Amino acid sequence: MAGLALAPQRTPIARRDREGRALTIAVTSGKGGVGKTTVTANLATVFARLGHRTLVVDADLGLAGLDVALGLTPRFDLGDVLDGRARVEDALVTGPFGVTLLPAAPGRAELAALGTTARAMLLALVDEIARRFDVVLIDTGAGIGATVLDFAATADEVVLVVTPDPLALRDAYAMAKVLERRSGRASVDVLTNHLTAGTDELTVHRKLESLAGRFLGLELRHAGAIRHDLAIAESCAHGVPLVLSEPSSSTARVLTSLARELDARRTEHPTTNELALAPTLSLVLPPRGARP
Ligand SMILES: Nc1ncnc2c1ncn2[C@@H]1O[C@H](COP(=O)(O)OP(=O)(O)O)[C@@H](O)[C@H]1O
Ligand SMILES: [Mg+2]
Repeated sequence: MAGLALAPQRTPIARRDREGRALTIAVTSGKGGVGKTTVTANLATVFARLGHRTLVVDADLGLAGLDVALGLTPRFDLGDVLDGRARVEDALVTGPFGVTLLPAAPGRAELAALGTTARAMLLALVDEIARRFDVVLIDTGAGIGATVLDFAATADEVVLVVTPDPLALRDAYAMAKVLERRSGRASVDVLTNHLTAGTDELTVHRKLESLAGRFLGLELRHAGAIRHDLAIAESCAHGVPLVLSEPSSSTARVLTSLARELDARRTEHPTTNELALAPTLSLVLPPRGARP
């Protein structure tokens, strides 16, 4: 039986305050292929290395990818759990520094468009399992579909991955706008990926800010930049996040500083469990912060 035997053994340095709730972080982008899964796998490894009991949820339900990025071979996945073929404990697999993965189901198209009830089940399930961890990272799929928004709107923190590509910036702006309307969120952390030589990270950030202009009330925090580097892609393909193989790289430095910053903010989040309540409430209430 997998179950608790697979839970990380490391003593957490994180505070089990806020009634034992984990800090939840959604990694999202709008556009696909910008590096969400790569960032999630590396950020999770950083959190685990810092001593936090870390869960990563592959919420790119019909496609998946975190298992590959973390070098894991799950026996069961979220599809099996939602279908009732496996318990959530049986789907958990443990990777570097005790990072625990709740895997998605590659090739299950129907999971990419879950109905309201299944989404509510999914959020409740993640919320339940999250109680055993200090930090929960959620790798969302691309787009602004309902499952992506459920996770991004209810997470404590959102890391918005962008690239210098104007299309990625426009999609990131669209995501930020929807999130502001949907959740009343005050800020997101914008992480630039695929930065190439000669491109300044602040210029990329400013382009996003100028797209948002005065229309966006939410703060776009500058969370640093990761260079376009084939070593990052290769390490991901081999299932060894770069922060493990090259712990003193600039990528590791940027992600460690982001992890520390997110952790430092954890006391700002409310103690009530909004993750579990969100899908139910969204059936009856207008989105928080919605304009009349
Ligand atoms: N900074 C980077 N430098 C080079 N390749 C990268 C970088 N970040 C991601 N990649 C590669 O780009 C591809 C897409 O990344 P992925 O994390 O799967 O994106 P997403 O999850 O947003 O679809 C993968 O092959 C990955 O290894
Ligand atoms: Mg992905």
